[in-house]
Amino acid sequence: MVILVTGGAGYIGSHTCLELINAGYELIVLDNFSNSNIVPLHRIYEITGKHIKFYHADLLNKNSIEKIFMENKIDAVIHLAGYKSVGQSVQSPLSYYHNNVTGTLFLCQTMQKFNVTKMVFSSSATVYSINEGAISEDAQLGSSNPYGRTKLMIEEILKDLYVSDNNWSISILRYFNPVGAHSSGRLGEESNGIPNNLMPYITQVAIGKLEQLQIFGGDYPTPDGTGIRDYIHVMDLAAGHIRAIERVMTSTGVKAYNLGTGNGYSVMEMIIMFSQVSGRKIPYTIVDRRPGDVAVCYADPSMAKRELFWEAERGIEEMCEDAWRWQLINPSGYKEIVRKI
Ligand code: UD1
Repeated sequence: MVILVTGGAGYIGSHTCLELINAGYELIVLDNFSNSNIVPLHRIYEITGKHIKFYHADLLNKNSIEKIFMENKIDAVIHLAGYKSVGQSVQSPLSYYHNNVTGTLFLCQTMQKFNVTKMVFSSSATVYSINEGAISEDAQLGSSNPYGRTKLMIEEILKDLYVSDNNWSISILRYFNPVGAHSSGRLGEESNGIPNNLMPYITQVAIGKLEQLQIFGGDYPTPDGTGIRDYIHVMDLAAGHIRAIERVMTSTGVKAYNLGTGNGYSVMEMIIMFSQVSGRKIPYTIVDRRPGDVAVCYADPSMAKRELFWEAERGIEEMCEDAWRWQLINPSGYKEIVRKI
């Protein structure tokens, strides 16, 4: 079976591609490298011995997408390509709406033209407007920022698409907080500049690239006062995509699934665990809350367990160990190697 993975060179994409190859799928990757590069695809080859057919293409260029569908018999699409920074989306909303929404429209139009009706779409827990207790898929939706709204809009577009043509089969995956790396230390998350997210920030403090972590808020109504999130190992997330592909191939309809562990950990608990596994001190200061942050956000992942037969298997210790190994082996991410190529 042939799967087109848009954004396949990115953090989640590269780990998902590795799992797809291990599960026996044939892959085509489309990426414009706006926030990634070719190195992870080379490394997937090193790990698996399997080549990935790659197109350096942009979803906003409809002709180049059509070419991919013309040249290949594609059975399903995993659609991960998109901008993902909350802060940037507030600065440049038009580019976010254009890239994420228009790119998806072009992709869906092309899929329709070539009669490909199976899709797994990468969404985010950021689409939920509530933030108390375990969040289930029927919780109230709404987002406070343009990035989140692009995800919400795309979810609505995909639902409308199914209403118009019941042949479509679409799984929407709402990720909680993906962290960690492949256990080989060869694939991981590359941050451009200073990381926005907690785990890459911690790893860069641990290795001495950044001086100290700022904890955004120590006065949340949580046991230790710091924010609680549902961190999920990126390899568990990758496995979720395989289950979702299996589902879309054998059913029709459009359905959203939370991909999270169902367990919440505080910033402080993450710092303590990371210090333990790395043997490094993580200096920190507690500063004001970050605007837009919530106190607690964790998944009710029971729907994915029931319908996708998927459950996260890795705990925060493994997440921290793998993130640390990746950081140690690749202090500058993929960048140094890119310069040499
Ligand atoms: C963020 C995005 C979310 C996206 C997700 C992907 C925002 C507001 N939300 O979620 O849309 O889907 O990443 O993983 O950016 N923290 C610190 N210091 C730091 C960084 C983070 O204390 O330097 C804290 C935050 O306040 C939060 C926790 O760590 O309590 C996790 O933060 P982060 O990794 O940025 O993820 P989210 O904000 O949950």
